[in-house]
Amino acid sequence: MKLTLNVNGEDRDLDIDPRTTLLDALRNHLELTGSKKGCDHGQCGACTILLNGRRINACLTLAVMHEGDEILTIEGVGQPGSLSPLQRAFVQNDGYQCGYCTPGQIMSAKGMMAEFDLGWPSNVSDDLTAVPDFSRTEIRERMSGNLCRCSAYPGICAAIEEAAPEERNTGTEAAE
Ligand code: FES
Ligand code: FES
Repeated sequence: MKLTLNVNGEDRDLDIDPRTTLLDALRNHLELTGSKKGCDHGQCGACTILLNGRRINACLTLAVMHEGDEILTIEGVGQPGSLSPLQRAFVQNDGYQCGYCTPGQIMSAKGMMAEFDLGWPSNVSDDLTAVPDFSRTEIRERMSGNLCRCSAYPGICAAIEEAAPEERNTGTEAAE
């Protein structure tokens, strides 16, 4: 079937089997291979993208459900030579080794910062009504859906902390 997806600010026409996941549509039909397919079961977070400013696993949803939505993939975040604050911080803090999980980690971190800014609590928040603390414990909990088999976790957390002051000013726009 024919549909149009808005990806990274551009309308992209597709003619696909209605059973195609959003992840496969991005990777196989639009050649946006930055989002990775790790498990294809919603367990690893490698396919994380932002949908209308919220992070989702692109492997768990069908492309046909997203006509009219704003889809942001890692390709829409920064470019070689003009990396986003998070991308720069990942490089500076050794936040990746093989890098396979990195696009998902970065998209998830962006989404997570927007959730912080909206005051959403997590499973480790002491007070569900208070403004959540941008603590290492909160970051670890909120990033726990993104697995890194190289165990670059300390660098990933450090990168998120380093980029937050800059990134949180820009990372919330899509969610507001
Ligand atoms: S590929 Fe989607 S969560 Fe693993
Ligand atoms: S850097 Fe290799 S899986 Fe994360």
